Amino acid sequence: MAESGIKTFTFADVAARNGRGGAPLWIVYKDSVYDVTNYVNEHPGGVDSIEEEAGTDSTKAFDQACHSKDAHTIMVKLKIGEIVEEEKKYDANGKKKKKVLKAEPEGGSSRSCLNMVTCGLIG
Ligand code: HEM
Repeated sequence: MAESGIKTFTFADVAARNGRGGAPLWIVYKDSVYDVTNYVNEHPGGVDSIEEEAGTDSTKAFDQACHSKDAHTIMVKLKIGEIVEEEKKYDANGKKKKKVLKAEPEGGSSRSCLNMVTCGLIG
């Protein structure tokens, strides 16, 4: 967000930076965006492993590779921004957000009660 001075990107912005056709190579790890264009050739885990994740949320693949503290230290320098608030998948504590359904409007609880009754009757 503009007020914190951190650049923000959507997942679509990141997807456009997939390293193909001379495009930069970005990846996402826990809602942070990393420009690995100049790092990929130095990557001890090889160019391919990063290229496979180019332009995507690579959190799972990154964690599965059991990266050391050193890897996280390198990442600090490669960070260029964060995913926009609306598209973030992790909360402020770094925990994966639960999928939140649209909040009930005021007085909506009676409707959900009705739904429960209806479901109860059908089920
Ligand atoms: C900014 C992003 C990344 C950085 C800075 C980074 C850094 C490193 C470093 C320093 C190592 C050496 C072992 C260690 O210290 O943990 C490593 C290994 C490795 N990395 Fe990454 N990495 C990044 C992204 C990725 C991604 C997206 C993948 C996707 C699968 C990946 C896969 C691997 C694998 C498989 C190894 C293990 C190589 C081995 O032990 O033979 N890395 N990485």
